[in-house]
Amino acid sequence: MKKVCMFGLGFVGLPLALSFAMRGCQVTGVDIDEKLVADLNQGLTHHLEAYEGKGIQEILRHQIDQGRFQAVTDGQAAMKACDHIIVTIGIPVESHKHDMRPLIEVCHTVGAGLKAGDLVLIRSTVIPGTTRDLILPILEKESGLQAGIDFDLAYSSERIAEGRAFHEFEHMPAALAGINPASTQKAFDLMSIVTRAPIAQASCMEVVEASKVMENISRDVDIAMVNEFARFCKAMGIDIFEVVAVANTHQRVNLLNPGPGVGGYCLPNALFYLLPKADEIGVSLNLLSAARQVNEEMPRYVADLVLRNLKVAPSQAQIAVLGLAMKDYSNDDRMSPALFVIEALQNSGCTVKSFDPAVPSRYDFKVDSLEEAVKDAHGIVLLTLQHGIDFMNLDRLMELMSKDGQPFIVDTKNFYDPQLVWEKGFRLERL
Ligand SMILES: NC(=O)c1ccc[n+]([C@@H]2O[C@H](COP(=O)([O-])OP(=O)(O)OC[C@H]3O[C@@H](n4cnc5c(N)ncnc54)[C@H](O)[C@@H]3O)[C@@H](O)[C@H]2O)c1
Repeated sequence: MKKVCMFGLGFVGLPLALSFAMRGCQVTGVDIDEKLVADLNQGLTHHLEAYEGKGIQEILRHQIDQGRFQAVTDGQAAMKACDHIIVTIGIPVESHKHDMRPLIEVCHTVGAGLKAGDLVLIRSTVIPGTTRDLILPILEKESGLQAGIDFDLAYSSERIAEGRAFHEFEHMPAALAGINPASTQKAFDLMSIVTRAPIAQASCMEVVEASKVMENISRDVDIAMVNEFARFCKAMGIDIFEVVAVANTHQRVNLLNPGPGVGGYCLPNALFYLLPKADEIGVSLNLLSAARQVNEEMPRYVADLVLRNLKVAPSQAQIAVLGLAMKDYSNDDRMSPALFVIEALQNSGCTVKSFDPAVPSRYDFKVDSLEEAVKDAHGIVLLTLQHGIDFMNLDRLMELMSKDGQPFIVDTKNFYDPQLVWEKGFRLERL
């Protein structure tokens, strides 16, 4: 039975910790967030993951009852009883600048608790080169041990999508490299407890670190491309969703759908993990930077679609924003396009009321029911699909909305059948 210490109990760390616990490992989860740790030990989580018909909360409670999972704040103490250390602490990005402090801090803790024979497996998404150039020296200095001789060190990218975490830990092919073959093998053995899909072993950690960042950026670029196509199609008077459907009948084309922007922790941050290294090694990333800018401009574009449908002055207008999460059926609103759409609408003078039953964050503009959000609104903007929002109750929505100008819906998800929406008396604007 492996003894695993999971640093970070967020969107990745918690379901990953429980994945090991479910398979018989003894898992201690470490997080600096005291309230999170207390909640988890009481079997409480707001995450929306599920595995084989069981919600993550039920899984958490079961693993606690079985004595296979506990959460703590003292990482160094936790490491005394564990020899397999996994790190899932990320690198936040604020105003396009990365912040290494949380990762550096956790490395000091892990280094101070490190014992001979331990494995440290990094699963955070990082600037290529970080594991060797930043993490390794801190671990060695704090522990007085030598990587590759006294302890093992490896990097494996984390590829899960929120909402599918348990399934993807098991079935998504993974990539891994260690600082030496023994580290790679030990990490492979650990990961194989959960991952049944192939685990590709790369020649060095930098390859895996870079591939992870590039995987994320490639999606960002694909979305930016189709978002740019959307603006072109709108100006030309043709429907982007129909264009995408027609283009995708080509066997070698696979366009994604456009959307109100790209949010969450992963895709918007990825470029800012590549740029620092690119600057260091003297490479320009013009295409990638332009794509990021296209996606960052989408919320403003969506806000403008709303504004141009108003028949009252923005200062008199009330807008219902439905869906705050960064993607459909998620509870994660980190860097969500919805927040930027709302900011743009508010800056233009509109009053915004937003409803998303899955997102736990509190905001002044957030209300507790669809009725509250829609009552007296001049327009609705649909940004994220979410269970618990009755989007299809169009008669009720129409009844609640202001009749000061024809009620309208800005549908960024291609959700509504235009014919149906028109028949109910709405104007419809799509991306
Ligand atoms: N969220 C995803 O879907 C996803 C997918 C693939 C990869 N990733 C990557 O995985 C990593 C983690 O992402 P996440 O979404 O789980 O982040 P998160 O913010 O949800 O979780 C990180 C946790 O680490 C804790 N923490 C911060 N500093 C700490 C410290 N010194 N010691 C202990 N705990 C500490 C925080 O309190 C938080 O609970 C990031 O690098 C991210 O880019 C995330």
